Amino acid sequence: MDILLATQNRGKIRELTRMLKPLGISVVEPEEDIKVEEYGNSFMENAYLKAMAYYKKYCIPTLADDSGLVIPSLDGYPGVFSSRFYALDWGGKEPVKTTKDQANISKVLRLLEGRSDRRAHFKAVVCLMIEEDLYLFAEGTCQGEIVETPRGSEGFGYDPIFKPLGQERTMAELSPEEKDLISHRGKALRKLLEFLKECKSFISYPRASMS
Ligand code: IMP
Repeated sequence: MDILLATQNRGKIRELTRMLKPLGISVVEPEEDIKVEEYGNSFMENAYLKAMAYYKKYCIPTLADDSGLVIPSLDGYPGVFSSRFYALDWGGKEPVKTTKDQANISKVLRLLEGRSDRRAHFKAVVCLMIEEDLYLFAEGTCQGEIVETPRGSEGFGYDPIFKPLGQERTMAELSPEEKDLISHRGKALRKLLEFLKECKSFISYPRASMS
């Protein structure tokens, strides 16, 4: 089975590919960036918008991921604005000195300065569009807290400042395999694949019993 990944985010492509490949699923990367207006108010809406935009262009089963960091003491921000939090007026714009990820991290740390409630969670919603009117969603979350100083060089995005619950290391200090086991994206993807597996055995049962 071929699945098109509806993203240009290298971090997401890396993670989704390494989880799908061992299952015999060939991952197709989009040749060109499709500009998707992510005007949804939820991860689910945005995942759908991305899956639909890429599906329309390539017409093969398409997997989209919309994800982000949710911090309750910041009214749920960065949330659906996670990738461009640095540029939002809310909380004040953050200059990009090196990378956008770096600016996002600096803004979160600035807004949490002196706060004791540093709870946070990552959330991912994946949308697999099989046909234009046939699609599935699955959701995964990873609970944790925001540390005071970034640590680690694995992963991407907010990983250096996110310490998953029950871990002493930040997400960026975990190996890729360790991250996949506990991450929001790993959980969402496994749920989706398990459901598909169950559908497959359900569909093949009557055929097998007829022979
Ligand atoms: P999206 O491409 O609109 O879904 O934005 C996702 C953004 O959320 C990324 O650019 C990161 O800033 C953040 N994010 C999502 N998943 C992760 C993760 O696994 N680690 C760190 N940051 C993440």
